[in-house]
Amino acid sequence: MIFAINEINRNPDMLPGVKLGYKIYDNCGTMDILRAALALLSGLKGEISGSSCSEIESVQAVLGHSGSGPTIAIEQVLARFHIPVISHFATCACLSNRNEYPTFFRTIPSDYYQSRALAKLVMYFGWTWIGAIASDNEYGLSGITAFIQAARELGVCIEYSELFVSTDPPDSLQRIVRIIRQSSSKVIMAFMSHREITLLATELFRQNVSDLQWVGSDAWITDPSLAESEGHSILVGSLGFVVTNTVIPGLEDHLRQLHPSQFPNSQFVRDFWEHTFDCSLNKTADTQWKLCSGSESLQGDQSYFTDVSELRFISNVYKAVYAVAHALNNLLTCKEGDDPSYNGNCPDTKNIEPWQVLQYLNTVNFTHKEGERVYFDSNGDSPARYDLVNLQTTRKGGMEGVTVGIYDASLPDTNQFIMNNIPIVWGNELNKVPESVCSKSCLPGTSKVLQRGRPICCYDCMPCPAGEISNLTSKDTD
Ligand SMILES: *[C@@H]1O[C@H](CO)[C@@H](O)[C@H](O)[C@H]1NC(C)=O
Ligand SMILES: *[C@@H]1O[C@H](CO)[C@@H](O)[C@H](O)[C@H]1NC(C)=O
Ligand SMILES: *[C@@H]1O[C@H](CO)[C@@H](O)[C@H](O)[C@H]1NC(C)=O
Repeated sequence: MIFAINEINRNPDMLPGVKLGYKIYDNCGTMDILRAALALLSGLKGEISGSSCSEIESVQAVLGHSGSGPTIAIEQVLARFHIPVISHFATCACLSNRNEYPTFFRTIPSDYYQSRALAKLVMYFGWTWIGAIASDNEYGLSGITAFIQAARELGVCIEYSELFVSTDPPDSLQRIVRIIRQSSSKVIMAFMSHREITLLATELFRQNVSDLQWVGSDAWITDPSLAESEGHSILVGSLGFVVTNTVIPGLEDHLRQLHPSQFPNSQFVRDFWEHTFDCSLNKTADTQWKLCSGSESLQGDQSYFTDVSELRFISNVYKAVYAVAHALNNLLTCKEGDDPSYNGNCPDTKNIEPWQVLQYLNTVNFTHKEGERVYFDSNGDSPARYDLVNLQTTRKGGMEGVTVGIYDASLPDTNQFIMNNIPIVWGNELNKVPESVCSKSCLPGTSKVLQRGRPICCYDCMPCPAGEISNLTSKDTD
């Protein structure tokens, strides 16, 4: 976020004569984020890093939070003051409700699109008979419900649908493993967090249940911690979607220049520094740690922090900052008669109000790095474009997500998947697309007869009566 703001402040073509300032709050993993929201409103202390923003004290927009729960809480407060809230990571479909969240925007697609994309993925590979398992929480429940609805609309049948959460008693996990063993579908849609999928994969591995094809939700499909779990081999071949990756030139240099002296009041930066270099910054404490020498630097560091090869969510922060900058820029350069939402009247640029920034955010439309367009629909949602990733074994025996294609919901129905010809590794350990159907297609000369009391994907193939023919596969009886 700081990198994007600095970049905008250096750019002579954006916001001429105006500098963007910021305050950043760290909620330290607690839910006490409302205090920060109120502090932003009233200008209280508590931020982890400041800027020399002296002239305008009112906040024009709030970026964050990453989680849907805290975002809902913040939005409910800030919406009353017409302050825009833009999240880079809150995916709950519930946040698209404009009546409840009138000032909310996001640069990540809503789970609504992910669930639909997953249903289309299942259909794309011809899997019409599948199992569904979800974490028993808001994320899993709303995700799997939307998935099942979308899948049914496309003609996919669900053999079973189960919920479980890591805090459940052990027999709950055993029950799910039993269901998987006894079922005939070979594809499982898992709308879960990494905790639940790790438990499930480990148990299936212990009981030697393999040759399943997993379809995963974004919360686990690219979680690097999965590769370390005992049962990760069970998940090789999994397919799922993640937000598209981007390159942000200059970001790596920016990150490598970080030094605690830039943020003397930030406990977060101190902790990070002490942890990275295994030394103490506190000269007065009697600690067993050696003191930091002062010559520590991130220039040669190879860590998660300086790795810019996976900028998926970070690039959404970048887009969010630019969305606000473009909105402000359009507002400040407004010419009379320009903007229909103002009945031809431009706002008073000396006294910008958050509700005016809100109006301009509705109409931003700009090109992000690498030609990706950024705009919001009438619900504040951004266009749904995902990378299709496939979990493959690495040479070192680990597991990594390989991008095998993209999915773009803004394209016509038949062209939404664009494969990049990188071979997909399948969960059945064979070189061909796994099959997961309740009944195989009926051959010419026979026709489908539905099985009483079973889903429409399950049928018998009956020979045609004498004197009638069916030269098609899967002919329905009529
Ligand atoms: C340094 O350590 C002392 C003694 O443990 C403690 O009182 C002080 O708060 C610490 N300062 C910082 C900046 O962590
Ligand atoms: C954004 O701008 C591009 C290029 O000017 C245009 O083709 C596109 O339709 C616009 N999108 C929206 C949602 O306004
Ligand atoms: C099946 O038969 C019909 C009627 O004779 C014909 O029009 C159609 O092309 C045939 N389809 C196939 C797949 O052979």
